[in-house]
Amino acid sequence: MTQKIISLAIILTFVFLSCSDLRKKMDESQLIEAKIDSILVLMTLEEKIGQLQQLQIKKNMHDSVCDLVRQGKVGSFLNPGNLETRNRLQKIAIGESRLGIPLIFGRDVIHGYRTVFPIPLGQAASWNPELVRKAARIAAMEASSEGIDWTFAPMIDISRDPRWGRVAEGCGEDPYLTGIYAKAMVHGFQGNDLKDPSAIASCGKHFAGYGDAEGGKDYNTTLIPESELRNIYLPPFKALVGAGGQTIMSAFNDLNGIPASGNEFTLRRILRNEWNFDGFVISDWDAIIEMIMHGFCKDGSEAALKAIKAGVDMEMVSTSYMNNLAGLVNNGELNTGLIDDAVKNILRVKYRLGLFDRPIAEVPCENVILTADNLELARRLATESCVLLKNSNQVLPVKEPVNRIAIIGPLADAPREQLGAWSPDGRPEESQTPLAAFQALKDNRKYLYAPGLQSSRDKSTRGFAEALKVAGSSQIIFLFLGEEAILSGENHSRAFLNLPGAQEQLIDLLASTGKPLVGIILAGRPLILSDIEDKLDAILYAWHPGTMAGPAIADLLLGKSVPSGKLTISFPRAEGQIPVYYNHRNTGRPPSEVHQGMIPGDPVNPVGHAAFYLDLDYRPMYPFGYGLSYTTFEYSGLKLSADTISMDDTLRVEITVKNSGLYEAFETTQLYIRDLYASLTRPVRELKGFQKFGLEPGESRKVVFRLTAADLAFYNYKGELLVESGDFRVFVGKSSADVLEAGFYLK
Ligand code: GLC
Repeated sequence: MTQKIISLAIILTFVFLSCSDLRKKMDESQLIEAKIDSILVLMTLEEKIGQLQQLQIKKNMHDSVCDLVRQGKVGSFLNPGNLETRNRLQKIAIGESRLGIPLIFGRDVIHGYRTVFPIPLGQAASWNPELVRKAARIAAMEASSEGIDWTFAPMIDISRDPRWGRVAEGCGEDPYLTGIYAKAMVHGFQGNDLKDPSAIASCGKHFAGYGDAEGGKDYNTTLIPESELRNIYLPPFKALVGAGGQTIMSAFNDLNGIPASGNEFTLRRILRNEWNFDGFVISDWDAIIEMIMHGFCKDGSEAALKAIKAGVDMEMVSTSYMNNLAGLVNNGELNTGLIDDAVKNILRVKYRLGLFDRPIAEVPCENVILTADNLELARRLATESCVLLKNSNQVLPVKEPVNRIAIIGPLADAPREQLGAWSPDGRPEESQTPLAAFQALKDNRKYLYAPGLQSSRDKSTRGFAEALKVAGSSQIIFLFLGEEAILSGENHSRAFLNLPGAQEQLIDLLASTGKPLVGIILAGRPLILSDIEDKLDAILYAWHPGTMAGPAIADLLLGKSVPSGKLTISFPRAEGQIPVYYNHRNTGRPPSEVHQGMIPGDPVNPVGHAAFYLDLDYRPMYPFGYGLSYTTFEYSGLKLSADTISMDDTLRVEITVKNSGLYEAFETTQLYIRDLYASLTRPVRELKGFQKFGLEPGESRKVVFRLTAADLAFYNYKGELLVESGDFRVFVGKSSADVLEAGFYLK
């Protein structure tokens, strides 16, 4: 009888909501909450737990999976494979399960779907958030056209350790910049209206601190003081939540002894209570049951209990929730209220995505995959992502009378490798390589090709003779080096970061010809270039540039485009120097210009005591924010609007930038601050603004920034955000290490 009364009440609620003028008064979110509540009361405990389960779809999907859907025991699938499979499962969910709650389908659409863009570490080097937003928008259109509702992106883990394979997936070492990209990608993936068929929910990952893995080993321990967590690792996630990000993924790592997927401090106190996040949290793959291996939980039941209490709403692939939550409720260990909260968070996102109104994904009426516009944007983003690290004697761009060009190296024609890590939907046959791009040019140049090596890890020198022959009949050598895609990404950390295989021998061989030697490096991380830098006349760092790597690189080397990329992660000189990053603290004994590597005699006395290595220059090989152009830019006239400001003033910072060279080009002017003394030691530089703009040769531009006290705030050890009066420095320039500076006092 009770059930009948409840059902009647619910039906009346629906009727009431659907037609009364109350509906007009209720805003969309109130309406969604009312609908959620009206479903929740109908759900059995088993159906509620079903919403918390995400399963993967294996190739030979058994009927058992369909039965689970029919029984309302699954809320989501990842990697549906194709639209048909996705819709087949959805039809079962909405048509054959008792309550007809739609499924949500997720996939790793990290840097493109079929049109693959540069890896995020490359995209970040464009310092062009608008372009990155557009790329995410294209990725969403392509992925949603094949039934994807939700991407497990953006990955916004800060990392300062290029040994970690997943630096490829992030935006580098700076929290402010990564936060800007987080917003851009959320807006790209989700669009302006989550109900739009082309919108896909974003997922900020991996929450939290995953990029601080000890020793750069993936999945490894992280020990991060709260102030560092709040000042460095959390800001990008806060930015994502502020931008309306709909989901968060809890990470694998243990954070200060508490696994991220059982961590109430991050998942409830910060994410929910401080940031008011109202989307849902999904664990990373098996991360809940891995809390047993962590030694944080005795068994699956305790893992499920700790995860649901901490605030993980949905379990990815492992089934500790499915197997244990009902028992925990029945034996009184778990309050159903926590399960209800998790269900509501998930249903909220499903409603916002319009899955209840439009559960079946339609194929768009016109093709949205690999369109000319998509490819053109991929080309532009790849072009703006490449960073020119060296260009001796302006050997680039190629100029007349050079018209015989050697194209050599294992990555000159590697369509799969140039797509980089996490490009499961990219297809090699759709990937345009540098060799193909040069060969497609109808110009008066001859392009001669020899791979030299079969892959980046090839140790055999049997291809060297042919490479030498090709080089011998050319006027300049374009040597394509780097890493195969599989050498970076998840579970692919490296202890040695030099070029793998016999690539360095190939460089030596080609350098011996005395011909201009240009190194184009395709890699998923900063590599150690110390031993090869002086053998290359020019170095273009292309990351893994994606589908349009070829046309983009050809444009740059031949001068159709001018490099504008700037590093968002410092390049170490040696693995022993890691971690090396720009926003470090000063210490009580900072190194100085004299600490530039081993000197004869007593290496310590002449240089004094400092935080340095006897046998290595203390500076990074290339600093954060660094990148050359074919032109030159001159900075002058740094001016501050005041030398003292109060807490509610705005400081105007102005500088003049001039294109003093011969090429029209983009420049990214960067603004940093330094808090000279505070209740906590503060970094020697903190990025607080940047502007990217084009200048004609000879053209000057006044660049203006504005700083307020809020830009100077930091979290102290008690987790309090505060601004302290005192002396500050402002730095403006072309990289974190090449700036003009001025000071001001904050009252
Ligand atoms: C992986 C990754 C995560 C990814 C998920 C689904 O283990 O850590 O980033 O989104 O599983 O593929």
